[in-house]
Amino acid sequence: MKDSAEIELPTKGQTKRHEIATVKMASAQTQVEMKKCLMRELPHELSELPANDLKTSFSEVDYIGSGSFGAVRRCYHDRLGEVAVKCTELTGTPEDMICSWKSFKTEAHVLARINHPNIVEVCAVTTWNSNVGLILEYVGGKTLANLMKDKQIQFSRSTGLKLIHQLSAAISYLHTFDSQKKFTHGDIKASNILITPQFVLKLADFGAANVRAATGCQSSSLTLDISTVHTLLYSAPEILNGDGYNDHARDVYSFAVVTYEIVTERLASDDFLGMNSLALISAIKDEQRPDAGRFDANDPMKSIVVSCWSQSPSNRPKIKNVEEEVRRIINDEFADETETNEAATFEIPEPSHASNRVGLDQFFRPFEIIKS
Ligand SMILES: Nc1ncnc2c1ncn2[C@@H]1O[C@H](COP(=O)(O)OP(=O)(O)O)[C@@H](O)[C@H]1O
Ligand SMILES: [Mg+2]
Repeated sequence: MKDSAEIELPTKGQTKRHEIATVKMASAQTQVEMKKCLMRELPHELSELPANDLKTSFSEVDYIGSGSFGAVRRCYHDRLGEVAVKCTELTGTPEDMICSWKSFKTEAHVLARINHPNIVEVCAVTTWNSNVGLILEYVGGKTLANLMKDKQIQFSRSTGLKLIHQLSAAISYLHTFDSQKKFTHGDIKASNILITPQFVLKLADFGAANVRAATGCQSSSLTLDISTVHTLLYSAPEILNGDGYNDHARDVYSFAVVTYEIVTERLASDDFLGMNSLALISAIKDEQRPDAGRFDANDPMKSIVVSCWSQSPSNRPKIKNVEEEVRRIINDEFADETETNEAATFEIPEPSHASNRVGLDQFFRPFEIIKS
């Protein structure tokens, strides 16, 4: 890639607030060749859609998330309807580019092979300039992390247990996928869990599946940012020690922390306030955990959580057994209840106005070009 240009991109629909993005533009020919090579590495099951057919706007409702490698945008496609496009820009040092490409490819390969009601679905891929995009079903709603932070939204014990059961079912499906290709998610945490207004849980973000260390391979320095600190909380001690990346037991550990958060309605980070990342790493390695004293004394979920975050991976139960146990607890506690249809008090934001939308390939150009 050559020719690097600094451009300004409006973010989150606020044309006054700009963020600087460095975009490396490859020559047209290099781009075509590079694109062909990259596409060959993606799963054949996924078709490629022109980026110009995916329409999005500067409106805040179309900016649905940002993560390690780029932005996630709500887009509109004539045939597919509403979708979420996870955009990854292949820029930076060669190591950065390889890392983001690997993460993108991993997520595409894993999602193309699996199909579960509690796992986000992939529809297709797209490319433009030096960007690649994974086209996913749009899950209107909130991440579990945002749901937990929103004090106005509360859900019942029965809904909480159902969410936990759905999460265990999704992980169990991955872990037992087939005898050769058992997947490990590798990055289970509240911000990678999407919840619809009907309280259907969808596990997302498979960029770390089977491969990436929980702290993120893009982070080569020891200066870890706040989101990394947050991720550390869900990381099993063996991962922080540098081994066990592919082990299912690491997902069971992360599941325990998420379950703690749902049942106690408290973020695990609130139990480790004021700790920097290094202190947190040594605390977790030293067997410190979120405060299990916050469970009600007779809550059977307590012993499940405590065994799932055992220090030794071999002492953690198989997620399949956990799934069955949670199902049993739900049946015990809510045997008399017919299916509760608790609906959330949050709604999916209205779609952006169609006349304000442009193709994804146009969108990521300088604002001046789009206006003219
Ligand atoms: N399919 C989707 N539907 C709706 N929102 C999504 C979807 N996928 C991701 N998001 C939003 O984008 C954020 C980042 O997505 P994620 O896959 O976790 O990316 P990263 O690998 O960069 O962390 C999520 O926390 C969520 O808010
Ligand atoms: Mg994520």
